[in-house]
Amino acid sequence: MKFLLKYVLVLATTLACNGLVDIEKYLKVCDRDSEDVNDCLIEAVQDGLASVADGIPDLDVPPVDPYNQKDLRLEYKNNQIYAKLIAKDIYVEGLKNSKIHDARLKADEDRFHLEVDVTTPRIKIRGQYIGEGRYNSLQIRANGQFSTNMTDLVYTWKLDGVPKKTENGTFVRINAFYMRPDVGDMKSLLTNENPDSKELTELGNRFTNQNWRLLYRELLPYVQDNWNKIGIRVANKIFLKVPYDQLFPLKS
Ligand SMILES: *[C@@H]1O[C@H](CO)[C@@H](O)[C@H](O)[C@H]1NC(C)=O
Ligand SMILES: *[C@@H]1O[C@H](CO)[C@@H](O)[C@H](O)[C@H]1NC(C)=O
Repeated sequence: MKFLLKYVLVLATTLACNGLVDIEKYLKVCDRDSEDVNDCLIEAVQDGLASVADGIPDLDVPPVDPYNQKDLRLEYKNNQIYAKLIAKDIYVEGLKNSKIHDARLKADEDRFHLEVDVTTPRIKIRGQYIGEGRYNSLQIRANGQFSTNMTDLVYTWKLDGVPKKTENGTFVRINAFYMRPDVGDMKSLLTNENPDSKELTELGNRFTNQNWRLLYRELLPYVQDNWNKIGIRVANKIFLKVPYDQLFPLKS
């Protein structure tokens, strides 16, 4: 009898977990139909950020602070200006010090939309780069290390997804992630190991720092493309592994 009871308990626990991850170990969950869902989400996202900063190995979620990106390619054309940049071993640091100010969820059986208002005091980015620039017939090549520090970022994360029924339950597939950070200040520094263009390095740095607002605005669409992919990938590590009803349960 005692054995049978134990067996039933083990079986029940196994079934309840369904071989899936116990998400509440890592993230606070919020009832999607509760009146307080947005307040709950402010706390859930704030806590969640601390959890995912170091990554969640059980869910195969990579560490997001520092976030390491192997490479990033940018190609920019504007009239006579052409620039190509390949950045490698990129580290982005500072996300975990973000503050979550507000959250707005619209979630039902057909769609999922979440907006989160965020501020981040300081983001540091560093890595290696190889760059090529052309202005009419003038051509410059450079390579070395780069460092960019941004302060007082104000932005909203926007996630969109679609709930999909599978044999294992309903899961939300995130298909869009969008953000457009306003930046208080930005300072960049490039080192250049190319002897042919070395003497231009200081000029380049001065130009970049004096015109960072313009450069940021011009490069934003290219970088947003990159963030979109990262945001979707990281979000889906969680959303596609944890059923909708566990991640955002219905209270009633
Ligand atoms: C459902 O779960 C099983 C076991 O974890 C897995 O093998 C299968 O691929 C899953 N089905 C879908 C549609 O994800
Ligand atoms: C960014 O900050 C780090 C340390 O906080 C510093 O080492 C680096 O030189 C800074 N970069 C720039 C471009 O100011």
